[in-house]
Amino acid sequence: MNETLQTIKNRYSCRSYTGEPVEKEKIEAITLAGVQAPSALNKQPWQLIVLQDKSYIEEMDASVMDMLSKQQDTSTYERMMLRGGKVFYNAPCMIIIAKEAGTDLDTGIVVENMALAASSLGLGNVICGLMNLSFDTEKGDKFKAKLIPDGYEFGVALLVGYATEDSKTPHEPDLSKVKYIG
Ligand SMILES: Cc1cc2nc3c(=O)[nH]c(=O)nc-3n(C[C@H](O)[C@H](O)[C@H](O)COP(=O)(O)O)c2cc1C
Repeated sequence: MNETLQTIKNRYSCRSYTGEPVEKEKIEAITLAGVQAPSALNKQPWQLIVLQDKSYIEEMDASVMDMLSKQQDTSTYERMMLRGGKVFYNAPCMIIIAKEAGTDLDTGIVVENMALAASSLGLGNVICGLMNLSFDTEKGDKFKAKLIPDGYEFGVALLVGYATEDSKTPHEPDLSKVKYIG
């Protein structure tokens, strides 16, 4: 199996980080992989925002957890408590993909390029759609003003960092999802 296929096979969603900062060169390699993604008509309808301010990530995390704890349906809050009580899992780096409206597919390709790049560099990572919730919190407008450029909307985020030892393994691929016709 070649290196690319091995990286795809080994990638998993990491939900426990040591908090140790990630080297600048590694972040640069990951974001380069992001902007190397293909896009419809090569429009590149994205902006990547790299947030490495740990205390700011913590502030957002606390804000989301507080909001979730007060919701009528506490299932997401309970799931997060089972995962260590942090919606961003103590990750030291968050790479946000801000997108132009209606470009979800392009966003997905960018984030997967970055997830694979991070995995290939020995870094834990997880795609984080739930980051969206931080904009619904009491501090949501402040977070949005800082993180999302004018004319763009939140697409998805990638959390990146060094995994703790108790991190998990990849999901079992389900080959029954593949159909050969003819
Ligand atoms: C669009 C998208 C959004 C996701 N959002 C979250 C999230 O907010 N939090 C989280 O822990 N995992 C999130 N995930 C990770 C999935 O839960 C994960 O990919 C899935 O359970 C399969 O596990 P694996 O990535 O380890 O193979 C997201 C994945 C995708 C593709």
